[in-house]
This record gives sequence, structure tokens and C-alpha cells, in this order.
Amino acid sequence: MSILGYFNKMKEKKRRYKTPTTPYELIGGDAKVTQLANKFYDIMEQDPFAAELLALHPKPLDRIRHVFTLYLIMWLGGPNNYELQFGHPRLRARHLPFSVTPELKRQWMYCMRKAMMDTVTDISLAEKLLHSLDQLAEHMINTD
Ligand code: HEM
Repeated sequence: MSILGYFNKMKEKKRRYKTPTTPYELIGGDAKVTQLANKFYDIMEQDPFAAELLALHPKPLDRIRHVFTLYLIMWLGGPNNYELQFGHPRLRARHLPFSVTPELKRQWMYCMRKAMMDTVTDISLAEKLLHSLDQLAEHMINTD
């Protein structure tokens, strides 16, 4: 094989194996993650099961919709604009001003599960992400 043939073969191999690697890419990038975050707060605002969680959040929700979207984009392996704008997440510390109980975690996961199932079509990816988010949410509990 000529050297050109060899390089073309390598190039083709690289192209074929360049599959999306991050959950951010797999979900569908900025547009889908924004949809997921907004759906999460829509459910929080509308579903009576999340009334206590909604009550805890400063209003209006526009700011947190934006901030949480940036966080999720970064958490899923996308661009790190959250960190550039707000610094290291220190998520547990950022939640300390709020009393996060096991019941509030339940309501948080309820909204996230509904939003995820509504937005992410790859069910096995959705399940994996929900599992990780559940662990993260558990870690946020600071009040019995
Ligand atoms: C376990 C139950 C949770 C409760 C009750 C809760 C509640 C809250 C509240 C009340 C705020 C403040 C909103 C505001 O400043 O407008 C907040 C901020 C935030 N939450 Fe949670 N949260 C929970 C779990 C989580 C989880 C699991 C994540 C990550 C996946 C998360 C990510 C964030 C982020 C990124 C912010 C903004 C922090 C900042 O100001 O930079 N939260 N949360």
C-alpha cells in the first residue's frame, strides 16, 4: 500500500471511531440540556408533589433556570461556562443556606425523573444519569 493509501486508511479509521463520547453529546448538546433543565423547573412549578421544593426556591426562577442549565451542561461533559462564571461548584456548600431534607430530595428526584423521561429518548442513558443524580442529591441532604 502507498503511504497515501495508508494515511487515508488511518483517516477513515479515525472518522469511523469518532463516536460521541460525553453524555452531553449523546443527549444532543446545549439545546437538549436546556430543554431538560427547563422541564425540571416547569414540573417543579406545576406539580403539587413538588410544592415544598418550589417554596424553598427564590423567585422568579429565571436565574436558577439559567445557572442550573450551565451547571448541567458542565456536569454532563459539555463546555464549562458554569465554572468560568461562578467558580468551582462546591455544590454541597452552596446548598448549606437551605435546609435540604430527605423529603426535599425525594421531590427533587421526582421532578428530575419526569423531566429526564420527557427529554432523553435513550432510556438506558437516562437511567444511568438518574442513578448518578440520585447519589449527588443524596449528598446534598444537610438536615434530617
Ligand atoms: C437534594 C435536593 C435539592 C434541593 C432541595 C435543592 C435546592 C436548591 C435551592 C433552593 C437552590 C437555590 C436556588 C437559587 O439560588 O435561586 C439551589 C441551587 C442550585 N442547585 Fe440545588 N437542590 C437540590 C439538589 C441539587 C442537585 C442534585 C444538583 C445538581 C445536579 C443541584 C444543583 C444546583 C445548582 C447548580 C444550584 C445553583 C448554585 C449556584 O448558585 O451557583 N441541586 N438548589
